[in-house]
Amino acid sequence: MRLLFTCVAALAGFAATAPAAKRSVTEPATGTSISSGESIPFNYVDSNWCHEGYTPITVWLSTSAPTGVNATGGLPSGTYIEYFGKYLIANFGLSPMQPVPPTSLTIPDISSYPSSSTLYLSVVETALAGTCPPGNQPAQYRFTSVPLIVV
Ligand SMILES: *[C@@H]1O[C@H](CO)[C@@H](O)[C@H](O)[C@H]1NC(C)=O
Repeated sequence: MRLLFTCVAALAGFAATAPAAKRSVTEPATGTSISSGESIPFNYVDSNWCHEGYTPITVWLSTSAPTGVNATGGLPSGTYIEYFGKYLIANFGLSPMQPVPPTSLTIPDISSYPSSSTLYLSVVETALAGTCPPGNQPAQYRFTSVPLIVV
């Protein structure tokens, strides 16, 4: 898969001068109310700053907006309630590759969080090690969070 990423990145080199897309959690909206067991819509637009064919993301329900990851790319334990999973976003019109991001997420048991408290739907976008120019970069991470309100 690494080879595929590299080849696609090379083919997509023309895009290197285009402005990077602004990454964004387009769903759920900021301030969406959440309760235990509820299903909420999910959509994330990647910025793909390293022009990869497929962008890995991880998705979390966290207690604060993340600013860093541990040695294996995870959020530090104690800073999140739920790890929804790792997914691949297809870029440049490529065919979807599993696991594709879900279009909805189920809120876990948040009954221990008081009404009106804020939790965060958080996405960590990853550029895999070796994919960013000039090609020998370590893995890079970008964080995007949307505050959600416990009802
Ligand atoms: C990184 O964080 C994830 C999620 O909390 C955890 O599963 C993993 O064990 C952590 N890795 C290290 C090296 O601490």
